[in-house]
Amino acid sequence: MALSPLKMSLNPVELSFELAALRCADLTPLVYRRLFDQHPEAQVMFRSEGGDLVRGSMLALTIEAILDFAGERRGHFRLIACELASHEAYGTSRQLFIAFFAIIRDTLRDLLGDEWSIAIAQAWDTLLDDIDALASTPA
Ligand code: HEM
Repeated sequence: MALSPLKMSLNPVELSFELAALRCADLTPLVYRRLFDQHPEAQVMFRSEGGDLVRGSMLALTIEAILDFAGERRGHFRLIACELASHEAYGTSRQLFIAFFAIIRDTLRDLLGDEWSIAIAQAWDTLLDDIDALASTPA
C-alpha cells in the first residue's frame, strides 16, 4: 500500500502526534489522568487555582521540546535540561520528570492502536533513551 503524504513527510515521532491529533483534539486530560494514576503524588504538586492552565502549558511545551529533539534540534529541546533543573524546586525527582515522556508515549500508543507501527515504537524507544542520557548529563 502506498504511504499517504502525511506518512512520508514526517519522522515517526511527529507522525505519532499527527495520528493522535486525528483521534483526539486535546491530549491534556488523557496524559494527566495517566500521570496521576501512576504517580498520585504528582497531583498535589500542581496549584489548585490556575492548575489547568499550567498543566496544559507544561504539556504543550514538553511536546514542542520532544518534536524539536526528535527533529531538527533548533533549540526548543533545550527546555528539557533547563526544566529538569528547575523542577527540582517543585520537588519533582529526575525519575518522575523523565517518566512524563514515557507517559506521553503510552498515551499516544493507546490512542493509535493498530497504527502504532514498529517504526514509531522504535523511534520512541530511541527518543526516551536519548532523553534519559540528556537528563543524566551534568548541566
Ligand atoms: C511528571 C513529571 C512532572 C511533574 C510532576 C511536573 C510538575 C510541574 C509543576 C508542579 C509545575 C507548576 C509550577 C507552578 O505552579 O508554577 C510545572 C510547570 C512546568 N513544567 Fe513540569 N512537571 C513534570 C515534567 C515536566 C517536563 C518533562 C517538562 C518539559 C520538558 C516540564 C515543563 C514545565 C514547564 C515549561 C512548566 C511551566 C508551565 C507554565 O506555567 O507555562 N515539566 N511542572
